[in-house]
Amino acid sequence: MSPTAYENLKYPTQKPEGLIQRIIKGHSNEGDLVADFFCGSGTTAAVAEKLGRKWIATDLGKFGIHTTRKRLIQVQRELKAGGQPFRAFEVLNLGRYERQAYLNVTGRLTGKKKEQALARKEQEFRDLILKAYRAEALPDRAFFHGKNGSRLVIVGPINLPVGRLFVEEVITECRKRGASRVDVLAFEFEMGLFPAVLEEAKQKGIDIAPKTIPPEVFDKRAVEKGQVRFADIAYVEATPSYDKKNKLTLAIKLTDFSVHYSQGFVDSITAEMKAGKSEVACDAGQLVKFTKDKEGVVKREVLTKKWTDWWTTGPSISTTRAARKSSRWPRAWAWKAHCPAW
Ligand SMILES: C[S@@+](CC[C@H](N)C(=O)[O-])C[C@H]1O[C@@H](n2cnc3c(N)ncnc32)[C@H](O)[C@@H]1O
Repeated sequence: MSPTAYENLKYPTQKPEGLIQRIIKGHSNEGDLVADFFCGSGTTAAVAEKLGRKWIATDLGKFGIHTTRKRLIQVQRELKAGGQPFRAFEVLNLGRYERQAYLNVTGRLTGKKKEQALARKEQEFRDLILKAYRAEALPDRAFFHGKNGSRLVIVGPINLPVGRLFVEEVITECRKRGASRVDVLAFEFEMGLFPAVLEEAKQKGIDIAPKTIPPEVFDKRAVEKGQVRFADIAYVEATPSYDKKNKLTLAIKLTDFSVHYSQGFVDSITAEMKAGKSEVACDAGQLVKFTKDKEGVVKREVLTKKWTDWWTTGPSISTTRAARKSSRWPRAWAWKAHCPAW
């Protein structure tokens, strides 16, 4: 993709529409169905729409889906302006399907019976999560659902992200009961909730630990074997500021970050590790390389001695190849990102 092409959306692996057009025209007719299961910026779907084909586009990245959605809306606008037909489309989130399917109450139940069946399903669902978390279910589940050692446990809503109101209720209930430590388990948390809300809770003497429920809770064998890991929420705190002269340039300063960390994770990986092998894991907020020798003795080497080491050793932090080659990277804490004009 030429950097100056009008169709360039700055998606790193975007393909030119002309190329995809040749492929679609050569292999399908109008009205046919075209699918791209790795759609990226949505070039295939955009071209298929323009050529009067039906399309399915999927990607595992939210950025890819977001870019594709915006691009297809633009295609619809252009077709409409040109008096040409276009189709409506729908964005589906595969992530929630498993949860919804679990809660699906089949049969012809209506009214109260349906409500009761749904409540039972939700209860089963919470029990499954508590089991995977190895927490004890509380007999009185009016608010908190379980207990893990000295910590209370609450499972967030199944189909919604945990938001500020939910956390505020947790704080109020903790104060009513004189509880000071609670784990909040959820599939999703509202963006921007952390770390501010945890600080507010701390000031009120309450230690809240938010944990992500991993998709493995739906895998019975993983639950039975105790292999389901609930990681702490990872976050970055950043301060954005626009360049006064060039409005399309944004500077982002990273001010703080935390990483995914699972209590007890290291013990289980070192126990499962074969002799002569090594693995990198996050332990007590640092990246650590664990090596097991022939006698089964595990050596521990901390890789992140200073914060800049996260850029070079962090498995979860990816940078572009060009950025990694640049001499200022990875030392620069603040960097400039050019925003595409949308
Ligand atoms: C080479 S890019 C596609 C670029 C696209 N042709 C365009 O013009 O923008 C590959 C895409 O596949 C996605 N991807 C990688 N593994 C995937 C998977 N297992 N399932 C779905 N999407 C995947 C990536 O997120 C990425 O957006």
